[in-house]
Amino acid sequence: MNDQADALRNKMTSAKSSSAKRDKMDTKIISVVSGKGGVGKSNFVVNFSLALQRNHKRVLIIDLDIGMANIDILLGQSSSYSIVDMIEREMSIWSVIEKGPLGLSYIAGGSGLSQIFEMNREKANFFYRQIESLENEFDYIFFDMGAGVTNSSFHFLLSSHEVFLITTPEPTSVTDAYGMIKYIDLKDRNLPISMIVNRAHSKKDGEHTSQNVLNVAKRFLNKQIHLLATLPDDEIVWKAVRAQQPFILYSPKSKPANAIEKAVKNYLNEADTPLYNEKTIHSFISKLKGFIRQ
Ligand SMILES: Nc1ncnc2c1ncn2[C@@H]1O[C@H](COP(=O)(O)OP(=O)(O)OP(=O)(O)O)[C@@H](O)[C@H]1O
Ligand SMILES: [Mg+2]
Repeated sequence: MNDQADALRNKMTSAKSSSAKRDKMDTKIISVVSGKGGVGKSNFVVNFSLALQRNHKRVLIIDLDIGMANIDILLGQSSSYSIVDMIEREMSIWSVIEKGPLGLSYIAGGSGLSQIFEMNREKANFFYRQIESLENEFDYIFFDMGAGVTNSSFHFLLSSHEVFLITTPEPTSVTDAYGMIKYIDLKDRNLPISMIVNRAHSKKDGEHTSQNVLNVAKRFLNKQIHLLATLPDDEIVWKAVRAQQPFILYSPKSKPANAIEKAVKNYLNEADTPLYNEKTIHSFISKLKGFIRQ
């Protein structure tokens, strides 16, 4: 027990001391979604987060995939506790945060994850307090949301500061991605959406897909979608999954790894524009509370 308490304290002081050096820092909360399942969300979020860590950002991934929580597996780790334990057993969020490669922080998902979106008032207040205790401790928090969204998980998405929407060039995936954009746009016209085209078979294939979605969104919804990245279809990805290693570590010079590095560089360069300002955990929680009260 003492060991556990010491470990928790160490975790907290190391995170605190690194943030103490900084002035006020925003924490950006990003929901990673897709219309269709299995398009590469979890792989993207893991590798993108690792590349952010490499760029001296502090990143936390929270696995909220109800169907197939697998962030820990993709990182080649097994976790002692999940986000479900945190809520069910009222554990401190700091005691369920695990450390992955390159110091990446993550919270594993677990069975019964759907309860997160159906919390009673008491549990919800506990959850808010835990999330609020992360303010200024991370630069980015990613929610890996799983495919599609339910009514309540949609509140998480709408409360986020930005949405990463993943699609493949497959027509069914593109149609579902567009459906998701339409749905988000209906609820919040100003929520920034960045698109990732995964598994492109050629440069042209990727460009065709992104142009298609971007143009349709502009034309029919007058919505500007930002193209964040195009990743090639590459056997390295599934080989890395089988080896339980993120592909940017498994094969750092591979095409998908280069695409991730490039995406992160662009993303960090764009991050100073006004569109991205004033992102705090506080603003996320107050939006989320607003939805739940409705
Ligand atoms: N760029 C790629 N090239 C080749 N295969 C890929 C690529 N991206 C993903 N895959 C394959 O697709 C599988 C599913 O990827 P991943 O688990 O990241 O999808 P997901 O969108 O998170 O799925 P779910 O909707 O179930 O959460 C991977 O295990 C891998 O085999
Ligand atoms: Mg997934």
